[in-house]
Amino acid sequence: MKTHLAPVSVPAETARAETAQDDGSLPTLVGHVAEYERDIDRILISEREIQDMVRKLGERITEDYRGRQLLLVGVLKGAFVLMADLSRSIRLPLMFDFMDVSSYGAATHTSGVVRILKDLDHEIEGRDVLVVEDIIDSGLTLNYLLKNLRTRRPASLEVVALLQKTSVQQVELDIRYEGFTIPPDFVVGYGLDFDERFRNLPYIALLKPEAYAGAPG
Ligand code: IMP
Ligand code: MG
Repeated sequence: MKTHLAPVSVPAETARAETAQDDGSLPTLVGHVAEYERDIDRILISEREIQDMVRKLGERITEDYRGRQLLLVGVLKGAFVLMADLSRSIRLPLMFDFMDVSSYGAATHTSGVVRILKDLDHEIEGRDVLVVEDIIDSGLTLNYLLKNLRTRRPASLEVVALLQKTSVQQVELDIRYEGFTIPPDFVVGYGLDFDERFRNLPYIALLKPEAYAGAPG
């Protein structure tokens, strides 16, 4: 008997198009978002490298949380891309919630001021909570968030962060699942924005200095 879970066959043409960058080459900027190309200096982490890392993190999380009830808490907006990819690499029943905090506005340097713009929809008492963060810069945002979440008495509270910047770290944080360590430069793509742009780039990139011109901060 056929089940509806049987794999759907993909026409050869489509399959090739979807894996066009699987040779490890960097995607061409023009091929992705032409309008962003003039602002991008270079790609720091390729789509392929990100996807490999996300898969590895997902496998570790799957092993560590087997048999438990995991709740992923995404920090908006930046973590939405990582959340979508990572959650599909975690082969466990999952629940999702989101928080939105503000520390930056359009500026490229942290203010140290953290505001909760959107709180969790659900209680986390007694739950295994994994906070999903796009990037840790000064650590101030996450430090504030973890303190806040701890007061709600989760069974466990850990962090997965795709990127962590070196040398500028102001707060010591215990990050259970770390992706890439990068220099303390401002980056965009894979959820990260500058002035709400560039979030949909599938790679992490550095902007040209001109791209910041005229922006607040
Ligand atoms: P922190 O409080 O300094 O650790 O800042 C963390 C938050 O600032 C992240 O969750 C991002 O939303 C934002 N952020 C930090 N560095 C960058 C960057 O290089 N590009 C885009 N957003 C960033
Ligand atoms: Mg963030």
